Amino acid sequence: MSAQVKLAASILAADFARLGEQVAEAEQAGADRIHADVMDGHFVPNISLGVPVVRSLRPVTKLPLETHLMITDPALFLDAFAEAGSDTLLVHWEGNCNLHRTVQHIKSLGKRAGVVINPATPANVLEEILPDLDQVLVMTVNPGFGHQPFLNTTLAKIRRVRQMIDELQPLCELEVDGGIDVETAPLAVAAGANVLVAGTSVFADPAGVSTAIRRLRASIL
Ligand code: DX5
Ligand code: ZN
Repeated sequence: MSAQVKLAASILAADFARLGEQVAEAEQAGADRIHADVMDGHFVPNISLGVPVVRSLRPVTKLPLETHLMITDPALFLDAFAEAGSDTLLVHWEGNCNLHRTVQHIKSLGKRAGVVINPATPANVLEEILPDLDQVLVMTVNPGFGHQPFLNTTLAKIRRVRQMIDELQPLCELEVDGGIDVETAPLAVAAGANVLVAGTSVFADPAGVSTAIRRLRASIL
């Protein structure tokens, strides 16, 4: 099981002055994909990066780029992120009145579609949309900031989502995002996660990105 767990390096914790280098380092160290957090200062109380950053990263890495849209109107920006080079578009369930349409829009662009749920959102809201998804992302912190502590209360929900995926859409990935490190990664994997997003524990480890990724992998062996 843990051999199949994938690691998505979240660039929010990277040094933006040398983003290309940091992404290359993560790729060389064996990260499976790059996770880009887009925030608009409305959907979450923070502003991060947008389309130009994804476009600049596309030619510097062979890894898949997944784009986590923490913005009020994700549907307005799907085409732009797809054109810029995103392989997966992750949209929140919260505040999305037309989720089915948004997911179909992502698929019509030929991209992988994922739905994200916040810590206070129950697993069962995913039931009807799950058959259409390539990925579910369970937030293990409140979205908006890196370097927050993992919320243990989300573990029971990860287990519930795992059960739903196994029943309804076994190929769908179950990703977790927030506070993932050598202590919490094994808990999330034991609960059923098979993709781990990690920002701080990859890019802010004083031992460097390669050592950090090696340690994370070792924690889930
Ligand atoms: C939080 C973002 C995360 C963030 C995780 O809103 O969605 O992807 O980068 O950061 P860490 O790994 O530092 O908790
Ligand atoms: Zn994220």
